[in-house]
Amino acid sequence: MAGKIPQPFIDELLDRTDIVELIDSRVKLKKAGKNYTACCPFHEEKTPSFTVSPDKQFYYCFGCGAAGNALGFLMEYEHQAFPEAVESLAQQQGLEVPREQGNFEDNRQRQDLYTILDKANAYYQEQLRSHRQAEQAQQYLQQRGLTSQVAHQFGIGFAPDGWDNLMSYLGRDDLSLRQLVETGMVIHKPEEQKTYDRFRHRIMFPIRDVRGRVIAFGGRVLGDEKPKYLNSPETEVFHKGRELYGLYEANKANRHLDRLVVVEGYMDVVMLARHGVEYAAATLGTAAGAAHLEKAFRYTKEVVFCFDGDDAGRRAAERALEASLGVLTEGRQVRFMFLPEGEDPDSLVNAQGKEDFESRVQAALPLSEYLFDCYGHDLNLEQAEGRSLLVSRIAPLVARVPEGNFKDQLARLLATQSRSEQSAITDLVVDSTPPEVAPAREHRQPEAGDEAVVTALPQEHPRSGPQRFTLAEEATSLLLQNPDLVGSCAVLDELEGSLQVDLQQLKELVALLQQRQSASLNKIMGAWYGLHGKEGGDQLYRLAAKEQLIAPEQCKDEFEDILTRLVEREQREKPLDVLIEKARNGTITEAEKQQMKQLLQRQSASPDQ
Ligand code: UTP
Ligand code: MN
Repeated sequence: MAGKIPQPFIDELLDRTDIVELIDSRVKLKKAGKNYTACCPFHEEKTPSFTVSPDKQFYYCFGCGAAGNALGFLMEYEHQAFPEAVESLAQQQGLEVPREQGNFEDNRQRQDLYTILDKANAYYQEQLRSHRQAEQAQQYLQQRGLTSQVAHQFGIGFAPDGWDNLMSYLGRDDLSLRQLVETGMVIHKPEEQKTYDRFRHRIMFPIRDVRGRVIAFGGRVLGDEKPKYLNSPETEVFHKGRELYGLYEANKANRHLDRLVVVEGYMDVVMLARHGVEYAAATLGTAAGAAHLEKAFRYTKEVVFCFDGDDAGRRAAERALEASLGVLTEGRQVRFMFLPEGEDPDSLVNAQGKEDFESRVQAALPLSEYLFDCYGHDLNLEQAEGRSLLVSRIAPLVARVPEGNFKDQLARLLATQSRSEQSAITDLVVDSTPPEVAPAREHRQPEAGDEAVVTALPQEHPRSGPQRFTLAEEATSLLLQNPDLVGSCAVLDELEGSLQVDLQQLKELVALLQQRQSASLNKIMGAWYGLHGKEGGDQLYRLAAKEQLIAPEQCKDEFEDILTRLVEREQREKPLDVLIEKARNGTITEAEKQQMKQLLQRQSASPDQ
């Protein structure tokens, strides 16, 4: 939906809104110098580290890093999506949200898709109660141990046998039929002139988004026919890669989820809930990816992946591990649990009960442990070869973890396990601010006249340690606070192909600034939220809020210096990355090994690494 609300309107909205007023009506603010503070509404705290800047029209929490503008606040505090947040701000200002052509229609059409899916859901549930084949379906559920209460909680239904039950019930006019086709409930094959129900003679599991709207279905056969499960296809309202079955129900059962157990199947989620483990969710027949995790982490701080103990389970766990690395920001935890071979959570909880399952959850391996186990179990760490292979396998993975204490801990573990110099490992895993720049800056006290975005901050709440930023993030931060620097960015044009996330972000920001010259920070952020959603917007705001302890007149030099180094490093490191990856998956040749060794030596000898 990005861009469908015209950007100038969002700009105007932000101009008219006062973030202090907006937040104060929800969280009582206290004046503290130039800014306002309060106890952070996004994490538990006793002393206020949540800060609102009227000048910059944004908020930032020094405790948990929550950050954003007025729209970001509404999104986070009221759990609103971007367009909804725009709607609420507009309403407060007495403005009507204009829609770019065609968009009003799009939105209406989406609403209609939710409506028809909801009707289908009601229909299936009714069939489970009253259809003449219902007894068979109910028997099946009973035999699997399901109670009617849990069936109701998950909205489980029944699609009776036959090719056109749903179609003739809901698709009586052209428009409804088209909607049934668009949601994947009805299959239309024009070349064969066939139109028929997708789900026939199946137990139906409605898949709901986190707001409780039905967006798709999974259907299970009652016997041994194939395929065992049938799922809705990807549609306008359903994206498998992002949805977790059961997250809505888990969140509804408990608004403050200590953890979420991620399992593989519909039945696993439902049966765990049946036994009182009401914090499980399942990926939908796809591997768990970063998008799933990002979603889960909006509702909990800990994700416990649960896998079968067989080879397929191990492979799936490895993929989940790799997907987790990039999203492990401060405070998030991922753990792994493996079930005995031949069991899944459903069979296990049925046989052993809740306590047994929960003690397995308690005993799940922390990611750090699983990481070393997974990549090191076949190596002999008594030999230099084994230890060096451990480094070449694990260092690139640690490099993907966002800067922070956890990453440092992993790097330390790797150094210990491989008996390497700590500094050598740090070089391999940290692609961040070179040491000779960052500490110098951290130690400088702010001076009057420093154009720090957040000045007059309460100093009595120091963070656990200085937040660390990558070079590209440093540059992004400088650029956000000094948009004129966009004039120095031509050198970035030399970078092409796939870039690290932080560098990609910098490039996109440059493009946006070039496009929208002389736009205020607030407006740039508005556009960014529209383009990148809440996660992306918050991330950028963290950089906008970063304290810059460089004198304003030094900014340009510093910025240009960083860019030059970034470009140099990118051009130098690319081949090394490729080689390390080859070493990791075992496809490296002898000649390439030599080359990698040289590159690594050169890298550790080079002063700016
Ligand atoms: P499983 O085969 O492990 O099934 O598939 P299950 O969850 O144990 O199912 P029951 O206990 O026999 O009822 C796990 C998940 O993989 C997807 C589904 O999401 C399922 O829940 N899957 C499986 C499919 O999409 N299609 C299939 O044919 C099989
Ligand atoms: Mn099963």
